[in-house]
Amino acid sequence: MFNLNNKIFEKRREIFLNKLEGKAAIIPASSLVKHHADCEYPFRQDSNFWYLTGFDEPDAIALFLSHKPKGERFILFVSPKDVVSEVWHGFRWGIEGAEKEFKADKAHSINDIQDLLPVYVEGSDEIVFSIGKHPRIEKVVLEMFAKQLENRSRVGIGANSIQSPERFLNEMRLIKSEFEINRMREAIQISAEAHELVRESILLKNNERQIQGLIEGFFLEKGARGPAYNSIVASGDNACVLHYTVNNSPLNKRDLLLVDAGCSLTDYYNGDITRTIPIGGKFSKEQKFIYEIVLDAQKNAIESAVIGSNSNTVHNVALKILVEGLKEIGLLRGSTEEIIDNGLYKHLYMHRTGHWLGLDVHDVGAYRMGDYEVPLQHGMILTVEPGIYISDRIPVPDGQPTIDEKWKGIGIRIEDDILVTEKEPEILSIAALKEIADLES
Ligand code: GLY
Ligand code: MN
Ligand code: MN
Repeated sequence: MFNLNNKIFEKRREIFLNKLEGKAAIIPASSLVKHHADCEYPFRQDSNFWYLTGFDEPDAIALFLSHKPKGERFILFVSPKDVVSEVWHGFRWGIEGAEKEFKADKAHSINDIQDLLPVYVEGSDEIVFSIGKHPRIEKVVLEMFAKQLENRSRVGIGANSIQSPERFLNEMRLIKSEFEINRMREAIQISAEAHELVRESILLKNNERQIQGLIEGFFLEKGARGPAYNSIVASGDNACVLHYTVNNSPLNKRDLLLVDAGCSLTDYYNGDITRTIPIGGKFSKEQKFIYEIVLDAQKNAIESAVIGSNSNTVHNVALKILVEGLKEIGLLRGSTEEIIDNGLYKHLYMHRTGHWLGLDVHDVGAYRMGDYEVPLQHGMILTVEPGIYISDRIPVPDGQPTIDEKWKGIGIRIEDDILVTEKEPEILSIAALKEIADLES
């Protein structure tokens, strides 16, 4: 039942502690979030807490004390064992389990955090804690910090500021280890197979909700935790709503179906794939034009995701092809440069071309630092997801062509998950077919 790979987490903690250089980090777990009445949303662990501990219970807190000697640096506060709670809500590892199975140097009951936090933090140079994200524990942290600031003014030692852990963790999480790349491969493979199921069975389906059921049922059948985000199953004009999640319209054979869905594994690694397919098995002439433009933009953008390039370049490669394609079919007018510089395409393409992917679907890590574009490196995983969405929702900018009715209601996005490697970019979601010949029947 329990196969946590402790070596992975120990290594991460060691790197994180080295980066802290005398600081004390307080990293809380997530809490359960109320859905309605006595029911909660499914539990979702905080990604930073998970990354460092592998502990999957709510309301825990991890301390990383880089000012202490080895063997006293990783402290876990957890919910203690409790027969009644465990009968109602399930198994807990408790204090002993936190030490034995999760290798905490010392574990305590979460009920002791207020008393023990000042003791553990004493002697650190700074405190590392994410302000504004963990309201319940934040009060305790700020009270402790205020008290020790008072002390500091008398004795001249102690933490003088609170810094964000993201500073230390984001750059670690942005570059995926071999272990993480393999977990991502699995999440993305399951996600891609789910898209293939949709493609193979689309002619038999008559409502968006059935497709959602098919995909999410497959995720569970494969042992995943469930969808990584609310699945988008959008037919026809619904596809022009970028985060459409209602998913209950009847399917019309003349429309396209855009499905943006990926699974989350039990250890939270995620896939994020979009495919757009003809519901009736054949693209119309207009749908095909648009699909070809998006596919061309996507393939070229993927090719540009090489070491030393950056996410802005990937975006610009896609954008230029989208704009030139839209010009060719008369939906944009003017010089490509002018259209891009003035954002005159944004009624047809209104999002960026991708994002980092990992424990969070929109994973952590900087894309740029001021004017400096963060270069792509081996081990980064990003999505490449250009699209074109043709509807009346955003007014056509002055000077641009009005949109003929024949184009309206076409929404197409193609999204793959890409590993940056020493050689060419690797398409981790390659099992989900996307060529026109494969999508038509
Ligand atoms: N599914 C969310 C996204 O593609 O960013
Ligand atoms: Mn995405
Ligand atoms: Mn997506």
